[in-house]
Amino acid sequence: MGFPGTGKIWMNGSLVDWKDANIHIASHVVHYGSAVFEGARCYDTVRGPACFRLDAHMRRLLDSARIYRMDSPFTQEQLSAGVLELIRANKFRACYIRPLIYRGYDSLGVNPFPCPVDAAIMLWEWGAYFTKDAMEEGLDVKVSTWARMAPNTMPAMAKSVANYANSQLIKMEAILDGYAEGIALDTDGNLSEGSGQNLFVVRDGIIHTPPVGSSILSGITRDSVMTVARDLGFEVRESVLPREMLYVADEAFFAGTAVEVTPIKSVDKIKVGPGRRGPITQAVQERFFQIVRGEAPDTHGWLQFVDEPVAAR
Ligand SMILES: Cc1ncc(COP(=O)(O)O)c(C=O)c1O
Repeated sequence: MGFPGTGKIWMNGSLVDWKDANIHIASHVVHYGSAVFEGARCYDTVRGPACFRLDAHMRRLLDSARIYRMDSPFTQEQLSAGVLELIRANKFRACYIRPLIYRGYDSLGVNPFPCPVDAAIMLWEWGAYFTKDAMEEGLDVKVSTWARMAPNTMPAMAKSVANYANSQLIKMEAILDGYAEGIALDTDGNLSEGSGQNLFVVRDGIIHTPPVGSSILSGITRDSVMTVARDLGFEVRESVLPREMLYVADEAFFAGTAVEVTPIKSVDKIKVGPGRRGPITQAVQERFFQIVRGEAPDTHGWLQFVDEPVAAR
């Protein structure tokens, strides 16, 4: 998945050519990881391109900035309008959306306050995160030797670029050990999440997921999955889960903007249930895709059509 190097990027309110969307090496973010970001998706629906839960992503972006005491130069509505303008300018029907708020160029030192707060949005085409087959067959994953951030160290609720140093350690270890993905525990040894996705396990027909207090990013797909599952009549529980729940689960799956809803077929070489996508995972996954593609009614108002003004919510 190399970048094409073409098209426009939104930088502080202006559309610039991809090749000109540069920042200086002395920018604070390069040295101290002082940025927060988002990852959202635009889907090619039957009624035209639509962003999935754009308002929720932009709200989380501004929440992340707030945690890091960054005064965003743009409001939620301005950022959402910037995304739609950029999708139209690049003529995408479906794409991944990456907004960033970062500390720019002024001076260097741990104190970030002298540096300006800048914003940018970029888009690219990003299909299936794993393989297409993984959506049906599931993934082989491992429990990582790396834990997620301890509470009151790096705030897990903020989608800060700095947190992805931890994610990279989890991901690299999994790849080098021959797995598709890693699942991290929290510092109490309970289940947390994957390197870039939330975790669900199913046992006796009940869907479980770790709570926000287990050092997870409060995922928007996680919230969507819980809502869709309840709409389908399933019981969903947010609870602290021990590691061994993975080994006795009937089903397990990941949820996130990039991975969408992806089944897990084994953990640490122990089969999850019969070792393939389970019926509850399939039901939730199918409904999720029907909604994002506009094939099922958008009863929760999750689709923001690219050709319509930013909806007031
Ligand atoms: C660490 C982590 N957890 C969970 C998620 C899933 O969040 P969302 O569904 O909002 O994309 C992501 C993806 O952004 C992530 O990076």
